[in-house]
Amino acid sequence: MNIEEIRREDLHPGKFIEQQVREISSTVRSELAINALSGGVDSSTVTMLGHRALGERLKTYFIENGLMRRDEPRKIASLFAGLGVPVEIFDAREQFFDALKGLTDPEEKREAITQTFYRDVFGELVRESGARYLLQGTNYTDVEETVAGIKRQHNILEQLGIDTEEQYGYTVIEPLIQLRKTAVREVAKALGLPEEIYTRPPFPGPALAARVIGEVTPERAEIVRGATEIVEEELCDTGTFQYLAILHNDRVTGVRGGKRDYGFQIEVRCWDSKDAVTGSPTRLPYDVLDRLAKRITTEVPGVVSVTYNITRKPPSTIEAV
Ligand code: XMP
Repeated sequence: MNIEEIRREDLHPGKFIEQQVREISSTVRSELAINALSGGVDSSTVTMLGHRALGERLKTYFIENGLMRRDEPRKIASLFAGLGVPVEIFDAREQFFDALKGLTDPEEKREAITQTFYRDVFGELVRESGARYLLQGTNYTDVEETVAGIKRQHNILEQLGIDTEEQYGYTVIEPLIQLRKTAVREVAKALGLPEEIYTRPPFPGPALAARVIGEVTPERAEIVRGATEIVEEELCDTGTFQYLAILHNDRVTGVRGGKRDYGFQIEVRCWDSKDAVTGSPTRLPYDVLDRLAKRITTEVPGVVSVTYNITRKPPSTIEAV
């Protein structure tokens, strides 16, 4: 890898911000740029850096891909409106579900999401807005995992030999590429982002598609969305690195009201980790697990089985896909 990491202990957030703002301004000059905000710490940080550097010449979109958590587009757009950053919600649900139709292989699903984001959605937004630049929050770990061949992170392009100028018609700017997540959090805090943003657990770029084993359909995304909401409500005070729900592909026999019910299986994962490179399952109290099982099987239609992952990373990964 020819990118040099800036370690958290060597980072001076104020200086880093100054330097990145200067660099974005001098790259974009008097042109326009766009960026996609998902509300995660990386894209939120890039939005604020870009906003400081370019003001109204940065157009920020929330891409509603049908794979985000419940009510997330509206919540994030209104939070940023409160910070003085206008965010437009762009409805791309049909494009994403069309691209994912019939796909079950994890890397094919990731590739379909990448192409839908970069070729279809950003390609269209760039053409419509007249922008020449796309700002995005790729971080050091994203590059590392992709280069190591572990997972194709949705936002890695150049390191895979993709010339975005030639293939998509715009240049990508990645101000956070030298930082890992803990360092990005320091920058986010120094930029004045609220605590709920700079302490937010990571959420993957492919969103809930990283948590649906097998085909991702609107119906299956809705099941995992319901389970995710419960897992987040129950585990948000644990102080753990990341917690999530996964929908399995195979169904299992259950029993409901004395009748056979052939239903869905949800797997809960809760991780202790520093940097997502390695991780171990949190030793959650049994009554917490019991409450998760009860709530998920009663509140998410069709779920008859809930399991808890007890595997470390490696050999597991944090997400399932
Ligand atoms: P894995 O599943 O590879 O995840 O152990 C490591 C960390 O990265 C997040 N993740 C992603 N983040 N784009 C991202 O920006 C992606 O394609 C992606 N896939 C996984 C995951 O949530 C975890 O924090």
